[in-house]
Amino acid sequence: MSNRTVGIAVIGCGDIVMTQHLPALMENSSVTVTAVCDTDPLRAEKAGMISGCAYHTTDYLRILADTQVEAVIVCTPPWVTPDITMDALRAGKDVLCEKPMATSVTMAEKVAAVERQSGRLLQVGFTYRHGPLMDALQDWIASGRLGRPLQIRLGIYDEVWDPEGNPEHYQRILNTLRHGPPCIHDGAHAADHLAFLTNSHPIRVAALGLATRPEFPAANYNSALIEFANGDQAKLEIGWFYPHLPAGEFQILGPGGLAYLDRSNNEAVLKTGEVTERVQLSEDRVRSCFRAQLTKFLDYHQSRRTPVPGSREGIASLRLSLAIVEAMDTGNPVDMKQGDIM
Ligand SMILES: NC(=O)c1ccc[n+]([C@@H]2O[C@H](COP(=O)([O-])OP(=O)(O)OC[C@H]3O[C@@H](n4cnc5c(N)ncnc54)[C@H](O)[C@@H]3O)[C@@H](O)[C@H]2O)c1
Repeated sequence: MSNRTVGIAVIGCGDIVMTQHLPALMENSSVTVTAVCDTDPLRAEKAGMISGCAYHTTDYLRILADTQVEAVIVCTPPWVTPDITMDALRAGKDVLCEKPMATSVTMAEKVAAVERQSGRLLQVGFTYRHGPLMDALQDWIASGRLGRPLQIRLGIYDEVWDPEGNPEHYQRILNTLRHGPPCIHDGAHAADHLAFLTNSHPIRVAALGLATRPEFPAANYNSALIEFANGDQAKLEIGWFYPHLPAGEFQILGPGGLAYLDRSNNEAVLKTGEVTERVQLSEDRVRSCFRAQLTKFLDYHQSRRTPVPGSREGIASLRLSLAIVEAMDTGNPVDMKQGDIM
């Protein structure tokens, strides 16, 4: 990479930008944060102040017209993200868009078509597939240390229910539920992990949903059993809006052993026979994954190689999330058709 920095702008300056994307951008010496945008002027101003960028704006079209901006990171809610992503690609910018890349496959495919036509690059923010811990898990699986078939157990509990203590968060998550249950949102990461780890594609999904309060617009607890073409199976649980959250699971069981991600210790562990192997990070896993994601985005921007995870992985993840929704809504297992295979 040359000494020249890449001019990057951020569109949507909410929670994930302030806590993760901006710190990653600001510590990367290959990047100049050129501009930030949020429709909420106070958020735009705050992100502008913290990043020290040239300007902040409430109008993303100003950013797209700026020739100093070579690439944009789109961190808006997923029902807003596709239109901004397509506008950015058409304006000649490479894009890192947050997950999920859309809330329907039709819209995600439209984004992918614009990506192809524009000749620009699109990376999708499946942040946690990056870095040494997921690489270790993938390597242990691919090298046969666990044997086959695998049983993958993923559990994600997030978004504590605290309407009085944190009304802004309550309203934001309630509104997110209006655009689909958690398996579309947090489930986007889980679906991507399953594709990454199994190196296969889902063929059958059974699922149940539970709305624990009548005012919730969608099931806030989602569970699914997923069968993959290669014979692996997965059990997925995602729960939002409980007053107390259990610890999540990330375990991979095979006839040869057990591997797991210990999120609280920032480590991946393999147990086979008498042997235990560990890969441990010396820093917070989330921070490390956001840094690795940005490094890859910059590499793709320079090399012009197709980003992974890109629109292909984004659409595959969404197909699985939406199959889970269909199975929850109908009460019947869903067979994923040939067309569902990316
Ligand atoms: N990769 C990850 O680990 C991760 C983690 C959390 C959230 N996310 C994703 O990031 C996205 C944002 O999540 P969040 O928690 O920061 O939400 P948020 O609601 O806190 O932030 C979204 C921001 O986008 C702004 N916005 C909406 N429409 C806009 C527009 N047209 N132009 C400019 N700004 C606009 C909103 O005002 C808000 O500030 C979601 O898609 C979410 O799924 C990813």
